[in-house]
Amino acid sequence: MQRMVSGMRSTGKLHLGHYLGVIDNWLKLQNEYECYFFIADWHALTTKYDKTENLKQDVLEVAMDWLACGIDPNKATIYVQSQVPEIAELHIYLSMITPQNWVERDPTLKDMAKILKSKDGMASQINYGLMGYPVLMSADIMMFNADFVPVGIDQVAHVELTRDITRRFNNIYNTDFFHEAQPKLNECSLICGLDGNKMGKSFNNDIKISDTAEVTAKKVMSAITDRSRMRKDDPGHPEDCEVAFKYWKIFGTEEEVETVKCECEKGARGCADCKRQLGAKINERFAEIRERRRYYEEHPEVVKQILEDGAKKARVEAQKVLKEVRNLIGMY
Ligand code: TRP
Repeated sequence: MQRMVSGMRSTGKLHLGHYLGVIDNWLKLQNEYECYFFIADWHALTTKYDKTENLKQDVLEVAMDWLACGIDPNKATIYVQSQVPEIAELHIYLSMITPQNWVERDPTLKDMAKILKSKDGMASQINYGLMGYPVLMSADIMMFNADFVPVGIDQVAHVELTRDITRRFNNIYNTDFFHEAQPKLNECSLICGLDGNKMGKSFNNDIKISDTAEVTAKKVMSAITDRSRMRKDDPGHPEDCEVAFKYWKIFGTEEEVETVKCECEKGARGCADCKRQLGAKINERFAEIRERRRYYEEHPEVVKQILEDGAKKARVEAQKVLKEVRNLIGMY
């Protein structure tokens, strides 16, 4: 079976963007590939090294969301990056062969530097660890000699760099040991935030997988609709409805979307009613997931055990690869 590796930074509770953009894909992939899914806590540390008080909880929250959504430890190997120290050793070897200008031209790094700057002004320079972000990511991927890396479009440049590093390693050590991992773009329904911008934790416009039905309903009521519509019996323009109708297209059946469209255009459906129904619809979709999540919240020891078992399994594979790498390089 072909291998797949993918990770998510440990950012705490995940939102519907993560669910629709990433997790939903993983649920299918875990049936078709040998999957390694991990929580990238070292990558989180590249920017949050000075705010570590929630680090552990953030990891757990991500794990609980994954498990609640149906990522299955009997199908995929799920683990926390820092619990597989072999990755750090491989990262060192890769850092020896990665030219400085390869990491400097990384487009994501430039974006991150900008964000850091806007956050705390002069205090933020790019640390060595952040600079190595894509090299660490290469180690994540090469650690299991992956064939594919399911990612969003924003991460493709990193996987390309991984391929460059892979070729360079194979070249320098005269081997074909490492596979050139290919990015596999997530098929996703892009969901915008409640305000119409990109959904994101820090933009305060997200709906969390773990939000209660009440919180979700309330948040959905704040979603932007057709700004030109004043009264509820004015004819609406679903295509100009900035958020609510887009959500309907994601969460409603074809029939429901058609009904919403017709009623809105005739002025037979007010925005408030429409969003009440939409909230209920979204809650229906996540009811089971949230119930499962509650179980894990009440049993954190179960979650921790799953992560430990996953790390154990991952390390067995990682050690095989590392042994070969050390041998190829000629380490003592
Ligand atoms: N950089 C990725 C992100 O921010 C997370 C990540 C870390 C990753 N290592 C990886 C993704 C390896 C795929 C493969 O989303």
